[in-house]
Amino acid sequence: MNLEHLCQQVNTLAKEVGAFIKSQTIAASDVETKSKNSLVTFVDKTAEAKLVARLSELIPDSGFIAEEGTSEKICEVYNWIIDPLDGTTNFIHGVPCFCVSIGLKRNNDLVLGVIYEINLDELFYAWEGSKAYLNGKEIHVTPTPTLEDSLIATGFPYYDYDKQDEYMNLFKDLMRNSRGLRRLGSAAVDLAYVACGRFDAFYEYSLHPWDVAAGAFIVQQAGGKVCDFKGENNYLFGKEIITCNPHIHQELLAKVKLHFNY
Ligand code: IPD
Ligand code: CA
Ligand code: CA
Repeated sequence: MNLEHLCQQVNTLAKEVGAFIKSQTIAASDVETKSKNSLVTFVDKTAEAKLVARLSELIPDSGFIAEEGTSEKICEVYNWIIDPLDGTTNFIHGVPCFCVSIGLKRNNDLVLGVIYEINLDELFYAWEGSKAYLNGKEIHVTPTPTLEDSLIATGFPYYDYDKQDEYMNLFKDLMRNSRGLRRLGSAAVDLAYVACGRFDAFYEYSLHPWDVAAGAFIVQQAGGKVCDFKGENNYLFGKEIITCNPHIHQELLAKVKLHFNY
């Protein structure tokens, strides 16, 4: 399979679906609550249906791990991991930070990632063996050597409060020992921003595979580190992710382990 060619096709699709999302206006009555603070609209669902239809054509023998459950087909080799609209709460409230996120897994390995940030028209992408790109230009994680000089993104807990105290203790520590913390409201955009060097690091818990698949892959192709809160590899399905440039990795991981008692 020619992954570079496939990536170009997925890029085109992500932009088309992004344009669809941008063209839609929603009313309060369009907002459905799946569970506490987990919202969805017809825009998320329609965008996902468009993605599933086209991605199925690109690799006929492929399955899906998709947020809105449009397809539950799982295949042995190729599976797409997609979030049609990451940043739904931003979208609903008119905050301009949301994206389309498409990852591809071959057996157990991520081999392609595409994130299209709709409002800024920014397309982040990489495929197995490639560099990482933003709108055609190569991108890299930052060279920042210490946490003290780092700008760090995170996602605040908003439905799973089991580790809220651990989270807040880490947050306080980083607040005092970094350049600052940010919460954009789209994990995929956070990851893309680590890949292109806007953020030095990102961490969050209670994430799903579709929030992180594409971004985790792109960050690694941009030279970054990705792991779970124990420093291990289970970040795709393990619901905890740390990603950063390689220089600050040990320092950040040590703080996460300290506060989460790992
Ligand atoms: C959410 C966003 C948010 C993160 C949440 C995700 P959604 O995805 O990525 O930044 O904090 O954990 O669920 O619901 O907007 O697709
Ligand atoms: Ca998401
Ligand atoms: Ca979503």
